[in-house]
Amino acid sequence: MNTKVEQAVGSERIYLFDSTLRDGEQTPGARLNYDEKVEVARQLARLGADIIEAGFPVSSPGETNAVRSIAREIKGPTICALARALQGDIDIAWDAIKDAEKPRLHVFLGASDIHMKAKLKKEPHQILEQGVEAVKYARRFTDNIEYSPEDATRASEEFLYELIEAVIKAGASVINIPDTVGYAVPEEFGAMIRRLKENVPGLDKAMLSVHCHNDLGLAVANSLEAIKNGARQVECNINGIGERAGNASLEEIAVALRIRQNYFSYYTNLNFSEIYRTSRLVSKLTGIAVPSSKAVVGLNAFSHSSGIHQDGILKNRETYEIIDADLIGGSAAQMCLTARSGRHAVLDQLNKLGFSLNNQQLEIIYNHFVSLADKKKEVYPEDLEALVLDHLSATEPRYRLDYLQTVSGSKSVPAAVIRLIKQDESIIEEVAVGSGPIDAAYNAINKITGLNIGLEKYMINAVTQGRDALGEVQVNMSYQDRTITGRGSSTDIIEASVKAYLNGLNKLLKVNGNS
Ligand code: KIV
Ligand code: ZN
Repeated sequence: MNTKVEQAVGSERIYLFDSTLRDGEQTPGARLNYDEKVEVARQLARLGADIIEAGFPVSSPGETNAVRSIAREIKGPTICALARALQGDIDIAWDAIKDAEKPRLHVFLGASDIHMKAKLKKEPHQILEQGVEAVKYARRFTDNIEYSPEDATRASEEFLYELIEAVIKAGASVINIPDTVGYAVPEEFGAMIRRLKENVPGLDKAMLSVHCHNDLGLAVANSLEAIKNGARQVECNINGIGERAGNASLEEIAVALRIRQNYFSYYTNLNFSEIYRTSRLVSKLTGIAVPSSKAVVGLNAFSHSSGIHQDGILKNRETYEIIDADLIGGSAAQMCLTARSGRHAVLDQLNKLGFSLNNQQLEIIYNHFVSLADKKKEVYPEDLEALVLDHLSATEPRYRLDYLQTVSGSKSVPAAVIRLIKQDESIIEEVAVGSGPIDAAYNAINKITGLNIGLEKYMINAVTQGRDALGEVQVNMSYQDRTITGRGSSTDIIEASVKAYLNGLNKLLKVNGNS
């Protein structure tokens, strides 16, 4: 197998239609506000999506506004709005996108027996008439019209031939075949696409598109098979989010076409190096975490845990990796370290993270790594990064933590015992209560120092996923006229909180020259 990713000469272009802001937003809990939608659209444009489906304007005035702003601001990609095959929907959708550099109206109407009978309560000939009328109506505004016979993979193929021919005659320029309920399997779907091309007069003049849902986990495979059989536009979403089990994942399709160009010989105009950033942004804003094992953008996609794999990767990345993390703008190959990893592997990972430490610092970080690897089965690059940041932000300590014990519970008063070692090696211990164990610990530290430190902000983050994740605490503290940030990390969040507070305290005392 040749793993080179050079562009094949004479290969055909595949257009990427991103529906993260429409179908993706239909993921339960993924609702984005106005600003968030516009921010995602900007990033999709940077990524190089060919078409951005910005939303379904009839669904709410807020949605219409966001689609309108995207249409006005985003240059480059085609901006598309979804509408049912109804004049009212089409009017609102067009009003939202009419100022776009390249606007597209996307009209859809059920085409399977179950949709026509149970949902729309119409006969096939009425559906055909409604579809044709809707396209003719949309044609008053633009000639860039996409038509989707919803639930096409469960529709009668003869009916689809007739319907598609009629909507093309009415003016549709893109025909999209949705596998609305994720029912298709690859070979069958590819054959269907091929038969449509062979049997529908006029389809050769239109752009043929597919829109695959992932109910059987086959959305990407179905999309790739459709491409092999004549589809030239694929509808897909960042991180594969979307209604129910989601839609085909944009990054998986694009990277598969790129890495296996020797097999597919198609290309896209995607800026691959924006993939990782786009994935993080969509995940952060929608609140939908990317599964660790997700292809291309998952936390583990570039992790290697087995000693044999790690050794192979260090000798030659291609032994166990077909995608270079640099291709998608991810950090360099992310080796997941364990207690079995040696100094060489730790050093290598630090270099990849961009740290150039001297031998003394390396020794300190390596020792921290060893004690972390004892508590945590897998040490991710983010963990290592947190250790280095802890170390780099450490200042010459006026106070060091010697001992910490906290008590908390539903029926007890939160309390903390803290013992600190001062610079002159004297030891001071204090006990305090508080609204919780962290507050109690901070009160005990304040008693020891006798200083009136203000806590302006407290933030905690899990550096990676999993119950044994490293907790990273950041605190903004003020003393006299200064504000400073302290940070600390530990698998124990109370310890991380105390470390962050002490880090901030030592920085404040250094700046103020206090003892
Ligand atoms: O899944 C579907 O059928 C759709 C259409 C609106 C294209 O999302
Ligand atoms: Zn859909």
